[in-house]
Amino acid sequence: MSMQSHNAPPPACAIVIFGANGDLTKRLVVPALYNLARTGLLPKNLALVGVDHNKKTSEEWTAQLKVFLVTVLAKNSEEIDETLWSKVAGSMTFLSGDFEKPETYSQLKGLLAELNQKQGLGGNVLFYMAVADRFFPVIAGKLGEAALMDDTKGFRRLIVEKPFGHDLASARALNACLLKYLKEEQIYRIDHFLGKETVQNIMALRFGNGLFEPIWNRDRIDHVQITVAESIGVETRGKFYEATGALRDMIPNHLFQLVAMVAMEPPVSFDAEDIRAKKAELFKAIQPLALTDVVRGQYDAGTVQDASVPAYRKEPNVSPDSNIETYAAMRLKIDNWRWAGVPFYLRTGKRLNIRSSEIAIRFKQAPYALFRDTPVDELDADWLILRIQPDEGIRLRFNAKRPGPAMMLESVSMRFNYKDYFHQAPAVGYETLIYDCLIGDATLFQRADQVEAAWALVEPVLKGWQDTNPRHFPNYAAGSEGPIAANDLLAKDGRSWRAIRILGGK
Ligand code: BG6
Repeated sequence: MSMQSHNAPPPACAIVIFGANGDLTKRLVVPALYNLARTGLLPKNLALVGVDHNKKTSEEWTAQLKVFLVTVLAKNSEEIDETLWSKVAGSMTFLSGDFEKPETYSQLKGLLAELNQKQGLGGNVLFYMAVADRFFPVIAGKLGEAALMDDTKGFRRLIVEKPFGHDLASARALNACLLKYLKEEQIYRIDHFLGKETVQNIMALRFGNGLFEPIWNRDRIDHVQITVAESIGVETRGKFYEATGALRDMIPNHLFQLVAMVAMEPPVSFDAEDIRAKKAELFKAIQPLALTDVVRGQYDAGTVQDASVPAYRKEPNVSPDSNIETYAAMRLKIDNWRWAGVPFYLRTGKRLNIRSSEIAIRFKQAPYALFRDTPVDELDADWLILRIQPDEGIRLRFNAKRPGPAMMLESVSMRFNYKDYFHQAPAVGYETLIYDCLIGDATLFQRADQVEAAWALVEPVLKGWQDTNPRHFPNYAAGSEGPIAANDLLAKDGRSWRAIRILGGK
């Protein structure tokens, strides 16, 4: 991240990417390395080794990645800077090998020893598993058996991508497998939401300002709404999504990380372990979920941003009678001193009206006594809204007097937009995460206990949903704000969701 002041290049090292020809490598990992080169945050001595099953030369691999990088940059109307690219490209070697075969790892070991000697890499290696999750235990096991995770002569770290397990049992099994060969501090479990600047800024907002801490509790806060709305459908990922659904895909990882950032107690320091301990404590305080606390939905055909789109059940590789949810909403109760009685409402879904992620904190209403003549429903409560994407910023909504002889109130807004204050270097969202691994800062990565605690929380819902068929699926039109039942979840508590919209103007 980091809350510490890291801005020097990381130590010399090798980065080994398993899944060198995969989508993640092309779309995110290599562009992130290029962006790190741009900001001077790539190791001065770097060897980038790609491992995948196809046969190709290092030159071919490099050329293919360059073509992809050009398209990624073009989205931002940028052209490739050849000098920068040569810093990345000059370090690249491709190794063709099967992830399941021991010889791949003996060849890799030989190659790493050679590169280490030639380039003075200090024995440091970061392994990145940019592969389908079925390979996580295979690669970790083979790396361990080949003694490639032995960190006595330099660091050895392993990045594990999402999904980290499919439920509690599989997450536990994966942790057990990794921990058989690696120490916990060698494992970096990525949740890419923690790579977002606006998510990291929640800590700065809460702990870097005297203003907010005294009001950040059940005395002043009525409830919290966390929304991660997407307008895209399942695109080409029908097969994956049929086995996953919105809950597994988004909640125990991304949305729970947002909850943790908002709700954890202040850590005693910004050391990774202190922060991770507070997050783990928070997960322990979340009450087990009941089926009455959750709502699921699936999109029907509809119109999203003026385009007609098909129902989920008509998407490629989706069963025509699928009961998989593309939307999930829930009410979390956090049973601790700070949050008792303050519900956290979470919702996420595909094919909603727009792409919009925010954390909205609603403060308790002022006593009405002074405003007896103002209709109560016109007296809006105060809101602090942390906009995660796409219009990154913070809004504070409060009541002001409408000009005129009468004391009439109107909700107004103070706005902070990131883009107005900071120049943000172009980023794909993986820069900070990769940099942090290279310097050994695990703050933004999930510890084994956190991952398991999150799965344990959603486990009863996963079981309950599996055992009962949803009624009325599909139950929301593409382009809407989700199923009506999600409104009922808040209505039961006398509350309602904020509209899902971009906060460009007021
Ligand atoms: C991924 C999910 O983890 O996060 C996707 O698998 C989802 O289904 C994506 O679209 C959302 O991430 P972002 O950064 O685009 O908001």
